[in-house]
Amino acid sequence: MDAAQCLQPPSEPLLLQPLRLQLARALGGGIGVACTGVDGDPNLLWPSERTAILKAVPSRQREYAAGRQAARTAMQQIGCAPEAIPSAPDRSPVWPDGLTGSIAHGGRVCVGVVGWRHEVHAVGIDIEEDRAMGPDLWPSLCTDEELALLDQLPPHERGRRVTRLFCAKEAFYKWQYPQTERLLDFLDVQVTFSADATGFVVRATSDGAPLPRCSRQGTLLARDGLVLAWLLGPAS
Ligand SMILES: CC(C)(COP(=O)(O)OP(=O)(O)OC[C@H]1O[C@@H](n2cnc3c(N)ncnc32)[C@H](O)[C@@H]1OP(=O)(O)O)[C@@H](O)C(=O)NCCC(=O)NCCS
Repeated sequence: MDAAQCLQPPSEPLLLQPLRLQLARALGGGIGVACTGVDGDPNLLWPSERTAILKAVPSRQREYAAGRQAARTAMQQIGCAPEAIPSAPDRSPVWPDGLTGSIAHGGRVCVGVVGWRHEVHAVGIDIEEDRAMGPDLWPSLCTDEELALLDQLPPHERGRRVTRLFCAKEAFYKWQYPQTERLLDFLDVQVTFSADATGFVVRATSDGAPLPRCSRQGTLLARDGLVLAWLLGPAS
């Protein structure tokens, strides 16, 4: 593969354009956003990225490549030449100097967001299919307080609310990790949604939780059968 192939941006499926535009508007200026399908081309990975997926099954290799391609497209949107984004041993992406970003794959869509570190500080994004999460999973994902709030919803809304909770917690995890390197369990944080569920606040749940007591606001977008959640900005 030559350098020109490495730099080749992926085409954006037409169906994903409205999603990308809405996301870009919501995230605000200064942040590059790209959406692709999950079938990236592993041949377009940069050499330092390949080690992460050498032993992975082909579908995972394509998903990983899609994430890198989306992130490189996002980099170009903020005026940065595309560069390699290797994975650290803990699987977190290693962003080029001066940049920060986040990658998510959700079923059929991959999203990459990138910004300048001195402007954005940190970003975490997650994407999930907008399906109900089975009740057997709720106790491992939801705190007692979250379960009590779920009980106040009509039964048919509860499973999809848990999917939103899950998405918000994963986005929070990705947002905080580069700043703290802390591993978190789903019960370490508590998510409270706004009345229309387009915003949420994440709080550490107890003194035993490995995060200082703090609260952080995030944004949630549901469209096209997908749920996306993200958080932006510095920890304090
Ligand atoms: C890291 C994690 C959140 C990723 O979620 P996922 O559903 O497996 O996959 P997603 O598609 O949403 O995101 C995967 C991407 O997240 C990024 N990622 C992985 N680890 C990360 C970390 N520690 N910090 C930031 N980003 C990370 C990677 O870019 C990865 O894609 P890649 O491997 O292709 O590069 C999840 O695997 C995990 O380890 N969770 C820990 C427990 C948790 O979420 N707790 C929440 C409590 S707050």
